[in-house]
Amino acid sequence: MPKKTTISLIKCDVGSLAGHHVVPKPLLSIGEKNLRKAKENGLINSYYVFNVGDDLQLLMVHEKGESNPEIHQLAWNTFQEAANKALQLKLYGAGQDLLKNAFSGTVRGLGPGVAGMEIEERKSDPIIVFAADKTSAGSFNLPLFRIFADPMSTAGLVIDPNMAGGFKFEIVDAKEGKKVVVKCPEEMYELIALIGTVERYIISRVWRARDDLICASGSVTRLSLIAGKYVGKDDPVMIVRAQHGLPAVGEVLAPFMHSYLVAGWMRGSHWGPVMPVGLKDARCTLFDGPPRMVALGFQVSNGAIASDDDGKPMIADLFADPAFELARKEASQYAAMLRRMGEFEPARLSVESMEYTTLPQVIEKLKERFKPI
Ligand code: 13P
Ligand code: 13P
Ligand code: MG
Ligand code: MG
Repeated sequence: MPKKTTISLIKCDVGSLAGHHVVPKPLLSIGEKNLRKAKENGLINSYYVFNVGDDLQLLMVHEKGESNPEIHQLAWNTFQEAANKALQLKLYGAGQDLLKNAFSGTVRGLGPGVAGMEIEERKSDPIIVFAADKTSAGSFNLPLFRIFADPMSTAGLVIDPNMAGGFKFEIVDAKEGKKVVVKCPEEMYELIALIGTVERYIISRVWRARDDLICASGSVTRLSLIAGKYVGKDDPVMIVRAQHGLPAVGEVLAPFMHSYLVAGWMRGSHWGPVMPVGLKDARCTLFDGPPRMVALGFQVSNGAIASDDDGKPMIADLFADPAFELARKEASQYAAMLRRMGEFEPARLSVESMEYTTLPQVIEKLKERFKPI
């Protein structure tokens, strides 16, 4: 069996400075310390700790495979330690996403979000990880469709014979707890019929159809379904593989030339525009947003992130580019438009989504006063 490399991105909101805005340095330092130790001990081969808004992100590259209990334990312990620090500092929402204290080999179902991808390294394997705050898992549906199925966006679908067979999408029905695989281009209309419902149907994986090469993997956590109530949003993460018979890095990024609307702004109760940003701007302020998204590019090499001469992993902060200024401007404009509507739909989420918030308690008070008409 050839050696395989695993990319794991595990994230958790363990507490934020000044509301739900940003992960402060002391918490990032705990991530850095624990992952450095795990690298020294040989559990992982490389790592990168970062944040998008109030979500602490642990990117790890290793050879232990997906859903490995030791890797999950490392993430779980790190989140616990960071949450304790957040508690000491009285940071806001300390331990917010640590919903259940019942670790038994996996963080799945306990609150943190996970994306993992095990690959056989190609001659050169460019990877992009996406992470977003103040939104939810279905917010990658639209760009994933554009990247892997829309020939008007990804030129390679038309030009590159290696992509001619199309791609297969695994879609999770978050409400029913079921999944289905749909193939494009043959079933494109059926695919859109499902994934247009972004709050229910979530693309979890994408493979190249002709050889089942894995090329995208995303988190599908629904915190409200775990907790049964609103406890913060399932700010999602996704891993995409690019080039050489897959969409080029530039084709993976092309859908982000424009902003689009996603669910999960302010109190997890509003639609908001995605603002693609560099790491330095991955902080949520205005009405707790607008929702931010970062894209980090790197190469995997011999089970690790390709690193520079000092041994530092080489990470490209892709949305820091001025080319995404248009999307950022659009996001500000859409934000202004939506906020003018205040608490009126469609600025506010649908009544089904609001069931998990505190809004029903407000309406409950009027229950007795309703008279038949
Ligand atoms: P508080 O009720 O603690 O202010 O929380 C509101 C909130 O931030 C929901 O996301
Ligand atoms: P987070 O899920 O990012 O903590 O956001 C909570 C929220 O509703 C902020 O308005
Ligand atoms: Mg938060
Ligand atoms: Mg968050």
